[in-house]
Amino acid sequence: MAINVDIQPAVPVVIDDTKDAVVIDGLTKLFKKPRPLIRWRKKNAEQKAEKREVRAVDNVTITIKRQEIVGILGSNGSGKSTLIRILSTLLIPDSGRVTIFGYDVVKDERTVQRLINRVSVEASFFKKLSPMENLIYAARLYNMPGDEARPKIRSILGRLGIKPDRIGAPLENMSRGMQQKVAIARAFLTAPIVLLLDEPTTGLDPRSKIDVQTFVRELRDEHDATILITTHDMDEAEALCDRVAIIDQGRIVALGDALELKRAVADIMGRSELVTMHEVFMHYTAAHLITEADIERYGSWEKAFEAFEAQREDDEE
Ligand SMILES: Nc1ncnc2c1ncn2[C@@H]1O[C@H](COP(=O)(O)OP(=O)(O)OP(=O)(O)O)[C@@H](O)[C@H]1O
Ligand SMILES: [Mg+2]
Repeated sequence: MAINVDIQPAVPVVIDDTKDAVVIDGLTKLFKKPRPLIRWRKKNAEQKAEKREVRAVDNVTITIKRQEIVGILGSNGSGKSTLIRILSTLLIPDSGRVTIFGYDVVKDERTVQRLINRVSVEASFFKKLSPMENLIYAARLYNMPGDEARPKIRSILGRLGIKPDRIGAPLENMSRGMQQKVAIARAFLTAPIVLLLDEPTTGLDPRSKIDVQTFVRELRDEHDATILITTHDMDEAEALCDRVAIIDQGRIVALGDALELKRAVADIMGRSELVTMHEVFMHYTAAHLITEADIERYGSWEKAFEAFEAQREDDEE
């Protein structure tokens, strides 16, 4: 079945809903590190090249179905935002491929831009203008008439807890969390087909977090949106996401629903009761700290990990 998407009514994008929403295949992105100011000793050419690169995204493969909410968890610098930026056509990958309902993020950039919407904390706004003015501007970019946009903007900002008298006042006088809510409102204004949320709730108060989560669910349930969300909040990941991917140093190290992951880690640790999402995160994001030498020394990866955890607990005491 084909569906017409009326984000830009003049030129509707036809999507084939029998296709998977997001297909990421062997995706890799390298960044060059800045040159160090001081050179300690000469290295061979290969070592030099390797040291000068960061594999921000390293051979990532995942398929996301229509209407799925997938969470991406990972330590600071693990590659979450880079992945989101590639999906939203802001960065070009070095290798691998991403398609959104079959449209390639590099080759069909324009079409993809009409299907996706990204929210991040670094959202660009006109700070001297009010939330209403900024959002009316955003609505125009999507061909949404002002008369239609205005009540919608008031309703969304109201639901996110922004008081009516702030809606018309300059954005620059609002707190960081309030400005973030305006960025979130922008994504919910146009009901995108694929929504990419990069830490939308980081720094928001607990009630606002729940409000954002409710919006995300509504978009999925009422508009069939597919959502990819990064978060550092384990409770949020567990409550909101159908599946969670944990990434470490650019690689997906675990993927599954929260219960599956909690069971898997409990099994590895030999525990009869389920572990928490927090423990799942700690387990998988410490994986890169275990070396081949550790595995040889302790006999298996699991044993080496246990020793690592014991050492860490000792260190903490
Ligand atoms: N434009 C860039 N130039 C060079 N290196 C970059 C660039 N953007 C990201 N990196 C590097 O790529 C790696 C992944 O960064 P990224 O921002 O994707 O991490 P993240 O998982 O989003 O982290 P956080 O949780 O802190 O938001 C880091 O080592 C970072 O320094
Ligand atoms: Mg990030």
